[in-house]
Amino acid sequence: MCGIVGYTGFQDAYEVVINGLRRLEYRGYDSAGIVLENSNSVFSVSKTKGKVDDLVAISGNLAGTAHIGMGHTRWATHGVPSDRNSHPHLSNNGKIALVHNGIIENYDTLKIMLTEKGFTFHSETDTEVLVNLIQYIMDINEEMDFPTAVRYALNEVFGAYAITVMHEDFPGVLVVARLGSPLAIGLGNNEYFIASDASPFVEFTKEAVYLEEGHMATISLENGVDIRNIKDNVKITPEVQQLKLSLEQIEKGGYEHFMLKEIFEQPKSIHDTLRGRLLVEEGIIKMAGIWDNLERLNQAQKITIIACGTSWHAGLIGEYLIEEFARIPVEVEYASEFRYRNPIISEKDIVIAISQSGETADTMAAIKMAKEKGAFVYGICNVVDSSISRVTDAGSYTHAGPEIGVASTKAFTAQLTVLSLIALKLGKHNGHLSNQEFMRLITELDTIPQKVQEVLDTTHEITKEIAKNFVDAQNFLYLGRGYNFPAALEGALKLKEISYIHAEGYPAAEMKHGPIALIDENMPIVIIAPKKGHYDKIVSNVQEIKARKGKVIAVVNKGDTQVASVADYVIEFPETSECFSPIIASVPLQLLAYYIAVYRGANVDQPRNLAKSVTVE
Ligand code: F6R
Repeated sequence: MCGIVGYTGFQDAYEVVINGLRRLEYRGYDSAGIVLENSNSVFSVSKTKGKVDDLVAISGNLAGTAHIGMGHTRWATHGVPSDRNSHPHLSNNGKIALVHNGIIENYDTLKIMLTEKGFTFHSETDTEVLVNLIQYIMDINEEMDFPTAVRYALNEVFGAYAITVMHEDFPGVLVVARLGSPLAIGLGNNEYFIASDASPFVEFTKEAVYLEEGHMATISLENGVDIRNIKDNVKITPEVQQLKLSLEQIEKGGYEHFMLKEIFEQPKSIHDTLRGRLLVEEGIIKMAGIWDNLERLNQAQKITIIACGTSWHAGLIGEYLIEEFARIPVEVEYASEFRYRNPIISEKDIVIAISQSGETADTMAAIKMAKEKGAFVYGICNVVDSSISRVTDAGSYTHAGPEIGVASTKAFTAQLTVLSLIALKLGKHNGHLSNQEFMRLITELDTIPQKVQEVLDTTHEITKEIAKNFVDAQNFLYLGRGYNFPAALEGALKLKEISYIHAEGYPAAEMKHGPIALIDENMPIVIIAPKKGHYDKIVSNVQEIKARKGKVIAVVNKGDTQVASVADYVIEFPETSECFSPIIASVPLQLLAYYIAVYRGANVDQPRNLAKSVTVE
């Protein structure tokens, strides 16, 4: 949620901060703001409700005025999106500026205390409380330096934060801190960058320090980067990481939207997920995280998968895969429910946490709880070095590359690919999967990138045409059975988040227990019906829908005649084993949602109210 950018160096700080904010806009885009400190140590602040483009429209006069500054792109938590609630927030004396990603939970108590001391507030945000708390601490401790005051203030707050703070009386200094929200420091040549992820500075430097939980840093050209523990001020030696991210990976590459680019990247991203892990000729699956913990994983009494949103849908398919091939009982839980319901978890349990961003607050909290209960936690993350990848005991990256479009696409299919590898590896090792069956399945898995390419080539135009018929739809149903039931849930989620059409996913057989009442000639129903996977049952479901005049969009295997002959619209995809079919079938569903949203004029990369990385609960 919210993106933070900071800069000090020799470049035009306005350019660096604004360009950085554009890269972070996926994190939140309801308001944006910037503060620059000019050579006379005077702040200039510009902020507005709206997107980074709206900020640029009102702040162009700031270009070329400073070499140090910071900016923010907001996803509202406390207070509606408005100019007043936008960051940066200034202290009452106007000398301290602060940008914040996260939530200060005890802000109301602090606000009452500060109000009693004479402070006034101009916004409804928790952030404005924190910046004034820093001022208050400096007011009552006249000798105290700025970084120490920030540290004292942070020791008074509860909640989650990544912050960057500047003080007019301490020119050239940026103070940053994190607890529960990510922050990276880019180390350039005579310049430093700060950002919620490395994308704003990857074109300038490949060296970065990811600030750890509970750490803060004081950054200046004069003294470099000084990292301390917020609690007790102990100096920390930073671990410098070499970034593997490239600029092309985070740009649109000629596509109209990131989402479309990412849909089309899937043959490559799935291939990258499999690369070096699936060795068909040698007949093995090689995954370091699994390999090192094979015994522990296979002796699990139970596996609990925790995740949110799309990652949760991947988890449901993971349950089918692991139970089918490794015969270990699996439960799938929303991280937000799991963390608050005192689940039964013991040292004999394995928890698999799935997260594209690796920053989702609910998943993070659920992991902490599972670890406290003694479970071994295995992470499946896309973002390398993300918080979740660092707190888990072991894990596998999905290697899908940066996913910028807010609606998850390539990360989902990469998660399914990793879960397939894990299930097959465990099943082979514990003997539930015969060598012959294992070989058949890995040979098939190896063909998936090519089949995804085929489905893109053959369905892109058709899906685009079909989408035109549903621009005015009010509701959609998505149905599937077995492995494709979660794929139906995911198809429905994609449509609702980017087109704002209400959509629900159901197991096809559940239709007659309620949703069938909704079906009439105005109800479009997407039904996933591959040959392998309860096909005959699905044929009956399609007949039931047609008898009630519903509009059927059938997603079927190439050459299907039975479902295709009664469906109103047909999208074909290449045949594969049932367990891998959601990877391929999901692709036309992504395209369908994408084009319906585009025809409705929606901003598909930045759908309303959403953010890519949900770092608040
Ligand atoms: C859907 C979507 C969200 C995320 C969810 C979890 O397209 O993007 O539902 O899947 O917020 O995010 P991660 O996977 O980053 O933990």
